[in-house]
Parts: sequence; structure tokens; C-alpha cells
Amino acid sequence: MEWREESKQTMSWNGTISNREAKEAVAAQLAAKVQDGQVIGFGSGSTSLLAAYAIAKRVKEEGLNITAIPTSQEMQITCNNLGIPTATLLQKRPDWCFDGADEVDPHGWLIKGRGGAMYREKLVMACSPVRYILVDDSKMVKSLGEKFSIPVECQFEAVNYVREQLFALGAEYVDMRLAKSKDGPVITEHGNFILDARFTNVQEDLESKLIQIVGVVETGLFIGFDPIILCS
Ligand code: A5P
Repeated sequence: MEWREESKQTMSWNGTISNREAKEAVAAQLAAKVQDGQVIGFGSGSTSLLAAYAIAKRVKEEGLNITAIPTSQEMQITCNNLGIPTATLLQKRPDWCFDGADEVDPHGWLIKGRGGAMYREKLVMACSPVRYILVDDSKMVKSLGEKFSIPVECQFEAVNYVREQLFALGAEYVDMRLAKSKDGPVITEHGNFILDARFTNVQEDLESKLIQIVGVVETGLFIGFDPIILCS
């Protein structure tokens, strides 16, 4: 039995998509890579949303059969709306994945997680043998931390301890991410908080140091994934 159309939850971007034209150009490049029968990890954020639209257009026009593994509830609903079948990592492994980023440095190291979805984003990326990162050129930086803090998802009771450890690792400041349409902190899809920690001069071992802090669930620092960067 199918849901009636009016019962189905829809998803639209809340606000204006920045640099939309450039993001659409890179989304089109990515959509051209899709082949029939593939299982694809679908990232989160506005660039991934535009890529999902471009892929859905090809699926519809060419009758392609693909399966998406979404990295967030937002992308799960988007795929449902677009008629793209989805699976979880318990059922299928991606042939490849795509995602956006907040910063990309010359090594291909990334800061992600502006939208708070970094845990499933990193899990899907880790499971994918090939990874595409879609960015407009405003995201390219000489060194990570130029514009964005590193999001650190942590459990509630660990908040003070994690803050202390972040400062001990050299964070200049640490802000708890606050919700916009709810009082108090953002609560992630996994029921945790996000501390945005400002680091400059990010070294290769910072990601492993952050994840070793007791109470940290995941971070938005993505090092060593060797992604293919598509930039417009
Ligand atoms: C989601 O949590 C993020 O990791 C996004 O992928 C990242 O912030 C890029 O977002 P935009 O494509 O909206 O710039």
C-alpha cells in the first residue's frame, strides 16, 4: 500500500542556497557519472541536494535503477520525494559516494558538518571505495580552519570534559551549537550535542586526537579519505 501524495513529508532547503549556479554546475558533473545498477552514498547539505535533483532527472529520463544510501534524515526524505530507492549500510555497500564540504585544503582534507550530519557522512564515506566531494571555489582553503570551526559531536554528560580536552588540544574557542527553532542546543540525529571548536594550523593527527576524547561521537574533520574533488 502506498502513502497518499498529500500525506508524504516533503523537504525543501530552508533559505537561499548560496552560490547556487556553481553548485548546480558541479552537481551536473557528478550526475553524469551515475551508471545503471549502482549503489551510491548520498551526502547532505545544499550541494548534495542539488546533486540528488540532477541524479533524479537522469533516473527519470533514462529509466536508471539505482539505490541511494542517505547520510541524513534530510536526504532520506529527499530521496523518497524524488522516487529514488534507498537502503541502509546494513543492506548494501556503496559503489561510490558523494558529499559537499565546508572547507577543502590542498591535501584533500575536509571540514564538514555545518548541517550536523557528519557521523553518517563519515560512515558512508568510510564504506565507499570511491568518494566525490562537490564544492564551489569558495570552499577551497590553503589550510583548514580558515573560515570554519570543527564540529565535534559529543554526548550530553561529556560536554564539560570534552570542552576541557578541546582547549588542551589547542582550540582557540569552543561554542556549543545552538538551535534556531528550538531553545537551547542543537540535538543531532543521534541525540547528541555539537561543540564547534576553532582550530587553526590543523595537523594530520588532530582527527585521531579528537576522536580519542571520551564522550566524542564523531567530528567534522575528514582526513585521509583521498576524495576526488569536483569544483566549479
Ligand atoms: C552537512 O552536515 C555538511 O557536512 C555539508 O555536506 C557541508 O556543510 C556542505 O554543505 P553545503 O553543500 O550546503 O555547502
